[in-house]
Amino acid sequence: MKILDVKTKEPYQVYIGEGIRKKTSKLMSEITGFSPTRILLITDEKVDRLYSEQIYQVLAEKWPVKKAVVPSGEQSKSLECYHQLQTDAIQFHMDRSSCVVALGGGVVGDLAGFVAATFMRGIPYVQIPTTLLAHDSAVGGKVAINHPLGKNLIGSFHQPKAVIYDTELLSTLPEAEMRSGFAEVIKHAFISDEQFLLQLMETYSIAGLTSSQLSEMIYKGIEVKSSVVANDEKEKGIRAFLNFGHTLGHAVEAEYGYGEISHGDGVAMGMLFALYLSEKKAGLDCDYSSYLKWLKKLGYPTSINKEIKTDSLINRMMNDKKTVGGIIQFVLLTEIGHPQLFSIEKEEAAELLDQWRLEGTSR
Ligand SMILES: NC(=O)c1ccc[n+]([C@@H]2O[C@H](COP(=O)([O-])OP(=O)(O)OC[C@H]3O[C@@H](n4cnc5c(N)ncnc54)[C@H](O)[C@@H]3O)[C@@H](O)[C@H]2O)c1
Ligand SMILES: [Zn+2]
Repeated sequence: MKILDVKTKEPYQVYIGEGIRKKTSKLMSEITGFSPTRILLITDEKVDRLYSEQIYQVLAEKWPVKKAVVPSGEQSKSLECYHQLQTDAIQFHMDRSSCVVALGGGVVGDLAGFVAATFMRGIPYVQIPTTLLAHDSAVGGKVAINHPLGKNLIGSFHQPKAVIYDTELLSTLPEAEMRSGFAEVIKHAFISDEQFLLQLMETYSIAGLTSSQLSEMIYKGIEVKSSVVANDEKEKGIRAFLNFGHTLGHAVEAEYGYGEISHGDGVAMGMLFALYLSEKKAGLDCDYSSYLKWLKKLGYPTSINKEIKTDSLINRMMNDKKTVGGIIQFVLLTEIGHPQLFSIEKEEAAELLDQWRLEGTSR
């Protein structure tokens, strides 16, 4: 088992290893000053069928546990599910020393984390991530639900007490979900370290990764994320670097329609565009076509559906939380591993996006 310290104001540890879910209650009881009165175990339907019984039993040996199951998928990050979970917590007589355990991917993590952040003004929670994407979402303390008018609009910052990442759980994850999560690993490499990126580029098939390779990549990805978060917990500065590939990625996701394309597939295209922009605007000297070929080989889409208009994408970017006064913010690289924020005016961004769609996707 590998252990990583997240040095936020209230520090916590991330445990990564094969089969470590069986040690959940031992690891939880070793957290200093932490002795939950009750536990609300929150999971989704698919994960429930696969893993919750085992985790429930392990926790129930030590503490009173109630399990709450939400439907699988993004639609559960809703006010309705949030309300139901608060009801469950109240009816289970949870108190300020009770704890939420989030067993699932980013959806369960964000939802359960927000329940914990707000129940009785905030109680502890522990993340047990079950997707590759959750190496990103389970660390950093951003928790949120969606509003029908936009994603993640209702939320808070609330760091977990611990993250227990059992890589064995990834064995049942569908290939498309693995690819989606792997895009965030790639992102973490691009913004931090060329060596890490070169090592990742030896991967030609995500499905073919061994468990120890995955553990190593997850460890490195979380190391990048946690060091950024520790230096900027509330996203006032450098935390924005984690949005590399996300300005266009989010717009693509929204234009395709949520669920029509995975987050990671959108981010992969967003990263390619960010690299293209980095060459034009940030002086990046890189072998763009090698990244294009590699992402293609891994199964990512590398060009946006022709029916989607550049203007619609630009308008989406204008509505982004990070856009201020008609100027779109992009995280670009001056060198691999060296991110920097760049502001590009709407008209120029549209021109460059058109250019990239024409020439950058087929180099
Ligand atoms: N808080 C953050 O910092 C942060 C960062 C990135 C993404 N997110 C959020 O994360 C969410 C996406 O997370 P996700 O991609 O993990 O999606 P998800 O939680 O919906 O999981 C994807 C699918 O895989 C299933 N699944 C989960 N674990 C499984 C397993 N081990 N075996 C088989 N199936 C399994 C789920 O039931 C679901 O159908 C989004 O809502 C996004 O906003 C948050
Ligand atoms: Zn992301």
